[in-house]
Amino acid sequence: MSLQDRYQIINFRECGDERGNLVVAEGEKDIPFAIQRIFYIYGSDDTVVRGQHANKTSEFVLINVSGTSKVRITDGKETAIISLDKPRMGLYISRMLWKDMYEFSPDSVLLVLANTHYDETEYIRDFNEYLALIEQ
Ligand code: TYD
Repeated sequence: MSLQDRYQIINFRECGDERGNLVVAEGEKDIPFAIQRIFYIYGSDDTVVRGQHANKTSEFVLINVSGTSKVRITDGKETAIISLDKPRMGLYISRMLWKDMYEFSPDSVLLVLANTHYDETEYIRDFNEYLALIEQ
C-alpha cells in the first residue's frame, strides 16, 4: 500500500455562529476509530523535533487546536510533510508509519487522539529497527 493510502487529511464539521466556532470530532464517525486516549503537546518550539517513532498498534489523529506545526511521515520509501494550520483540520496516521512533529509555533497546542491506551512496548524508537520490521 502506498504512503498516501496510509494517512488522511480530515476536515471536521464546524458549527460556528456569531458566538464563535465549535468543531466536532466523534469517534468512529469523523475519527476513523474508537477513541481510547487523548493527549496534547504544548510548550514545544521550532527547535524541537518530537515523535521520532512508529507504533505497532496505535493509530492517531493529530489536530493543532491552536497554532501550527508540521508532521513528517514516512514508510521508509516515501515521505510526506503535512502542515497542521487550522483547528478544524485533522491528520489521520495509520499504524507502522514513522513520524516526526516539528516547527511548533509558540502558541501550538497539538491534540492527539489515539485508538489505544498507552503501551510503551508498542513503540519503535529506532529507525533502523523500524526499517527492518517493515521489510520482513
Ligand atoms: P513521547 O512518546 O516521547 O512523546 P512524543 O511522541 O510527543 O515525542 O512521550 C513523552 C513522555 O510521555 C514519555 O515519558 C511517555 C509519556 N507518555 C505517556 O505516559 N502516555 C502517553 O499516552 C504518551 C503519548 C506519552
